[in-house]
Amino acid sequence: MDTIFSGIQPSGIPTIGNYIGAMQQFVALQEDYNCYYCIVDEHAITVPQDRLKLREQTLGLAALYLAVGLDPQKATIFIQSEVSAHAEAAWIVQCNTTIGELERMTQFKDKSLKNGRTGVSAALLTYPPLMIADIILYNANLVPVGDDQKQHLELTRDFVERFNKRYGTEKQPILIVPEVKIPEQGARIMSLQEPTKKMSKSDVNAKGYISMLDEPNVIRKKIRSAVTDSSGKIEYDVENKPGISNLLTIYAAVSQKTIPALVEQYAEAGYGEFKADLGDAIVAVLEPIQIRQKELLASDELNLILDDGAERARRVANKTLQKMRNGVGL
Ligand code: ADP
Ligand code: NA
Repeated sequence: MDTIFSGIQPSGIPTIGNYIGAMQQFVALQEDYNCYYCIVDEHAITVPQDRLKLREQTLGLAALYLAVGLDPQKATIFIQSEVSAHAEAAWIVQCNTTIGELERMTQFKDKSLKNGRTGVSAALLTYPPLMIADIILYNANLVPVGDDQKQHLELTRDFVERFNKRYGTEKQPILIVPEVKIPEQGARIMSLQEPTKKMSKSDVNAKGYISMLDEPNVIRKKIRSAVTDSSGKIEYDVENKPGISNLLTIYAAVSQKTIPALVEQYAEAGYGEFKADLGDAIVAVLEPIQIRQKELLASDELNLILDDGAERARRVANKTLQKMRNGVGL
């Protein structure tokens, strides 16, 4: 059976972009694959976090994983920092990755350009090796992520090929070369306020994203004030109508309808009607998830599931780590 690994950072509350680009795939894939879904809290601390808030967001995200429909019987759900093999493997990965490769990562370039190289942590540069470690420890051959992670997956593949060549034999490669799995639709949900920019939970403008825990009236309001254009026609045209196209993508993802079907349905409608219906459609999906998340956070179930997940994850991860250690001569 193919193995899947993926993770989300508890660096804020997940947005509907995380839901559509990542979580919806997680749920669909758990039926047919051996899945590992992680809350990557070690990634989150590459930028300073409030410790209490981080802990709260970590548990909140774990509860959201379950609330959207992940089943601990079908997938291993765990917190990254509870499996120490991640940090240890990341060191071995760093030792086999060049500074040049890491400096070419667009996410690093963007963030270091914004804050200056002296203003960001060294881990902002070395964070892709931790991500590589996450993936290889579980022998994952498929990694479901949004579009923004494509480059990091390329780097992972390059790393694995190099590592196997250096330390393995042709007959017995040490690590598995993973493939990226990007959703056909919704791989890049855009900001509601700047539809040419990716929607992100770390956006300073909260109107730009819908958090998975936003209240119904907030969701409807944010959709109503989403930036569109003045043509008034509901058409899918990313180049010329990025705002409406983004809303159509979100609508399709939360509704079982296709974009062409939605365009036809709203051929005679104005933006106001379209946005009101979209707000309702998002609320219809998120409200039950929010209710379930609250129940999970109030129960003892969550901690048991996470303890069990960490134990299962450790068993697999430690085996791979041992192979890596042997490989490099530790
Ligand atoms: P963020 O960028 O919101 O901090 P993460 O880095 O934790 O999110 O990414 C978690 C997952 O969500 C990744 O698979 C990422 O590709 C996906 N993702 C993040 N933002 C979006 C988006 N705007 N549209 C689609 N997928 C996204
Ligand atoms: Na499964």
